[in-house]
Amino acid sequence: MKHLLDIETLDRGDIDRILAKAAEMKKTRGRHPDAPLKDECWVLMFSKSSTRTRLSFEVGIRELGGQPIFLAANDIQLGRGEPIRDTARVIGRMAQGAVIRTYAQGDVEEFAELSGIRTINALTDLEHPCQILSDLLTIVEKRGSLDGLTVTFIGDGDCNVARSWIWAASKLGFDLRIAAPAKFQPPADLVARAGKNITVTTDVAAASRGSDVLYTDVWISMGKEDEAAFRLAQFSGYQINKAAVDEAGGSPLVMHCLPAYRGKEITDDVFEANARTIFDQAENRLHAQKAVLALLEK
Ligand code: CP
Ligand code: NVA
Repeated sequence: MKHLLDIETLDRGDIDRILAKAAEMKKTRGRHPDAPLKDECWVLMFSKSSTRTRLSFEVGIRELGGQPIFLAANDIQLGRGEPIRDTARVIGRMAQGAVIRTYAQGDVEEFAELSGIRTINALTDLEHPCQILSDLLTIVEKRGSLDGLTVTFIGDGDCNVARSWIWAASKLGFDLRIAAPAKFQPPADLVARAGKNITVTTDVAAASRGSDVLYTDVWISMGKEDEAAFRLAQFSGYQINKAAVDEAGGSPLVMHCLPAYRGKEITDDVFEANARTIFDQAENRLHAQKAVLALLEK
């Protein structure tokens, strides 16, 4: 594996290797004598805001012996219209790896191809692979394995995080339920291609019933701000709240990729009651991404 561009093109072996390495990275944090990124410069090129992804990559690259260089897309010529293919060929001459947060998935793919350097998707409109790898690590830590589990995603079923969940379920075989308004469901052909273990509904209560994991993400993803009023109306009720937790029964893991908007996709009481899990998820961004950084082939 030279790049991490999505979950869709990973296979089960890749995911298992990343999760095993992430657990090792977490256990040995602060002790990486082999410094897998020694003498390397890694460019972080971001066209969208970030707290967790930026910080975890900057810290992780340093912990592995490399140097991160942050380039906000609007501060470089890319923001003034220089094409991605030219930007890629410049960065490829100077850095050893790149972490890219942007809109079009095709831009990350084009960057990977033309720069020739290891490239990681740090979120596009289509996928957020680093997030889902960290979430899988968190579930394995807390439940031992994903085998036999049911994960319920409540909210925008067509967003990057939901799509990466779909591909994770496709590769790993756990049951995934998506509860989303009719206008915000993933394309039916994509779900059919991903597998029979993925179901989509508009019914939050039915999707939550007996579930092991309740997961949500923002109703208004970055880049969708123009649709805010429509989305707020459509998503009303697509929330992790006490009723959803009660439907799940037992003690479901309640997860959120963050940032969270209390009173929208999750209630404050449920968020705070599950803050330990949610911030473990956030911390695991560091460990999972360090695993990816160490495993990508030079
Ligand atoms: N979850 C996540 O990717 O957070 P940031 O947008 O803060 O990086
Ligand atoms: N779906 C969200 C994820 C944020 C980490 C977005 O794209 O804004």
